[in-house]
Amino acid sequence: MTSIKMTVNGKSVEKEVADQTLLSEFLRENLRLTGTHVGCDTSQCGACTVHVNGKSVKSCTTLAVSLDGAEVTTIEGVANGELHPMQVAFNDNHGLQCGFCTPGMIMSGIDMVNRYKASGQELTSDAIRHELEGNICRCTGYHNIVKSIQDAAAKM
Ligand code: FES
Ligand code: FES
Repeated sequence: MTSIKMTVNGKSVEKEVADQTLLSEFLRENLRLTGTHVGCDTSQCGACTVHVNGKSVKSCTTLAVSLDGAEVTTIEGVANGELHPMQVAFNDNHGLQCGFCTPGMIMSGIDMVNRYKASGQELTSDAIRHELEGNICRCTGYHNIVKSIQDAAAKM
């Protein structure tokens, strides 16, 4: 067991965890933040995507003990009094059906928009499709997800 301290959605958290505890498990089972979904558990589907120190990370393949001192944001932490523009855009553009992949899509979408804006590059629909390589949706056919991210990019 190892004692870890991190900031999750702006709140300081300190817990003893088994060394093999995955970040997804830590978030869902220790902190009850069940908005982070687990689809494949093998780093393929992206449903478990969260931000660690501002960057997208697949929490199903990250050990909680490796994040001592880190800042973690989950889907529960992106709305700040009102929905995040990425959440609004997914709603407005029908970017989801069952919603299982959606927390991961939103976390990846926010990270990609931030990265492209910081580098001054244009986030084209081709670039969004390429960036979404690690996020799988079994319902939507991706068209509306791409539209949602483009819409949010214009507003973020
Ligand atoms: S559950 Fe982590 S990538 Fe699928
Ligand atoms: S909306 Fe159902 S898996 Fe993406």
